[in-house]
Amino acid sequence: MILVTGATGTIGGQVATQLIAAGIKPRLLVRNPEKAKAFAGKAELFKGDLADPASVAAALVGVEKLFLVTAGTEGPAWEAAAVDAAKVASVKQIVKLSVIGAEYEAITFGKWHRASEKKIEASGIAWTFLRPGNFDSNALWWIETIKSQGAVYAPLGEGTYAPIDPADIGAVAVAALTKPGHAGKAYTLTGPRALSTGEQVAIVAKASGRTVNYVDVPPAAAQDGMLKAGMPAAYVTALLELYAFMKSGNASLVTNTVAELLGRPAVSFEEWAAKNAAAFK
Ligand SMILES: NC(=O)c1ccc[n+]([C@@H]2O[C@H](COP(=O)([O-])OP(=O)(O)OC[C@H]3O[C@@H](n4cnc5c(N)ncnc54)[C@H](OP(=O)(O)O)[C@@H]3O)[C@@H](O)[C@H]2O)c1
Repeated sequence: MILVTGATGTIGGQVATQLIAAGIKPRLLVRNPEKAKAFAGKAELFKGDLADPASVAAALVGVEKLFLVTAGTEGPAWEAAAVDAAKVASVKQIVKLSVIGAEYEAITFGKWHRASEKKIEASGIAWTFLRPGNFDSNALWWIETIKSQGAVYAPLGEGTYAPIDPADIGAVAVAALTKPGHAGKAYTLTGPRALSTGEQVAIVAKASGRTVNYVDVPPAAAQDGMLKAGMPAAYVTALLELYAFMKSGNASLVTNTVAELLGRPAVSFEEWAAKNAAAFK
């Protein structure tokens, strides 16, 4: 049995969908089964919460492989507890969604993920770490201001990064969960080409037939907006640190790992924008 966490989110949703497409019926740990009803019948829906270790232990009964994803400031603590529970349940393999550059522990997101990776390494359970860069789907965060103002605001200057299609991350996760040869591997996953935010905005604009301007905003303005939107302060601080890192050009790495692992090119941002154009119209 494969247990997938985060199935109501971006990457866990891809993993669940692609496992099902491969003829596998995974178990999904979900806080709210109603939110996962699209998977009903095709997957085992298990109501649980990563913040509730007893529910995680119950979800892990009979599980051989775990796809582990968390989000937010509690992530490292939840992942540590899940690893302890996986050990007790004799789980054979953990595939963890990490982040690009985790191994350098240069910024807070990397430190959070590397702490979880170290915990998994010390558990003795076989592991595979997926270390992706920015997801193409982060562009969906722009929908509101694209529609209301024809603009995208971000403190990213001309910094480039190679966004990756979540479907490609899901495909790599499914390979790691279902095929041999991925134990002890950490994969740095990016899209095929580094682009500035302005270039990505132009691609979304073209795909959706809208006029959209990219506005490079000062970090303080971005901070203000995120705090007003109700994001936790510690998370906002980590995001601003990441944005500064990206703006300074430190995040422009492009890898060929998706193509090497999947035997086909990684999906381009243009292709992702074409697939998702309706969301911006
Ligand atoms: N976005 C990027 O560009 C990027 C790049 C590299 C790495 N990452 C990493 O990717 C991860 C986020 O992945 P994502 O974007 O797929 O996440 P997401 O779309 O934000 O979804 C988060 C998932 O986790 C679930 N979840 C949250 N709290 C939970 C809890 N207490 N118990 C059980 N499930 C819980 C959510 O369930 P509900 O539906 O119940 O909320 C949801 O299914 C983070 O670790 C981030 O650092 C992101």
